[in-house]
Amino acid sequence: MVSTLTRPVPAALEGSTKKAVVEESVLTPRFYTTDFEKTANLDLSSQDEELQAMLAEMKADYNRHHFVRNPDFAQSWEHIQGEDRQAFIKYLERSCVSEYSGFLLFKELSRRLKAKSPLLAEIFSLMARDEARHAGFLNKSMADFNISLDLAKLTKKRTYTFFPIEWVLYTVYLSEKIGYWRYILIYRHLEQHPEHQFYPIFQMFENWCQDENRHGDIFKALIRSQTKLWNTWQSKLWSRFFLLTVFATHTMTVHERSRFYEMLGLDPTEFDAQVLRETNATALRAFPSAFDVNHPEFFSRLHRCSELNLQIKAIDQSHQPQALKFMRKLPLILGIIGHLVRLFLLKPIDAEALRGSVA
Ligand SMILES: [Fe+2]
Ligand SMILES: [Fe+2]
Repeated sequence: MVSTLTRPVPAALEGSTKKAVVEESVLTPRFYTTDFEKTANLDLSSQDEELQAMLAEMKADYNRHHFVRNPDFAQSWEHIQGEDRQAFIKYLERSCVSEYSGFLLFKELSRRLKAKSPLLAEIFSLMARDEARHAGFLNKSMADFNISLDLAKLTKKRTYTFFPIEWVLYTVYLSEKIGYWRYILIYRHLEQHPEHQFYPIFQMFENWCQDENRHGDIFKALIRSQTKLWNTWQSKLWSRFFLLTVFATHTMTVHERSRFYEMLGLDPTEFDAQVLRETNATALRAFPSAFDVNHPEFFSRLHRCSELNLQIKAIDQSHQPQALKFMRKLPLILGIIGHLVRLFLLKPIDAEALRGSVA
């Protein structure tokens, strides 16, 4: 059965009521719903041992005392002004919405699976616990900049995209793993270059990213429990479709928000490439097929998409009639689609063959 998610927001997540509307675009994090009945009936027997082990790890709750605002936060942040302030607030807002979207999906899955699939229900409930902490912490950081997302209002106002459970497994796995790599790469970079640590939240990322890594491993077990998600020609196409969607979105958003990465002393293009390389290598352990990121066209076409996307944004911000804007944007949109199709058709890496040769 399909349903929208309208669960109440836990007290820990309630922020001030300053902002309930998030600027929408194709690249904004989405809120999802799925077929809960079908999810409850998944046969998980082949991964039971793995899932029991993951449940024990989640119960251990290694980050129980981690999400506490230490004295480093207790100061004024008014010295971060102008373009930098806006870029950082956007980063916090996008991250908060993305974490909160995970919380809502996991919470609803937990509630709906309780009767028929208690193991999954408990795992999802503990994952929702983690995402609530992450979203809550980000929202408190936003309050340091005199802005908060009203998550309760956001829950009611947002529209939910229906994804079949198979798509949810692929996309949430990827978003957890790409999240892990983003957090850990920023953390490691700032360890080497503490002079760029302009706000203390980045110190938290080392333990924080381990939550995302564990969530990704749970989704890996769920994917591997369903043979048709990795043992069919369709699964190879779907894997690459979702990888490409996540990668293209990442490249475009990182370049749209390059100022934030520059504030951290990171080169946005290099950071994006490193995140994609690592996520693609990680995905080879769960997905049947992934990209050959060393192919000379791989990054060049993604960068072309990003340049076209920036041109589209510039047109959107101009003061021209809508019809003229559309006519100017159309060839650019078709250009992006053309590059994505060519990327999709690049010779892939067959992960199952790789697994076979290692074994
Ligand atoms: Fe998270
Ligand atoms: Fe997560």
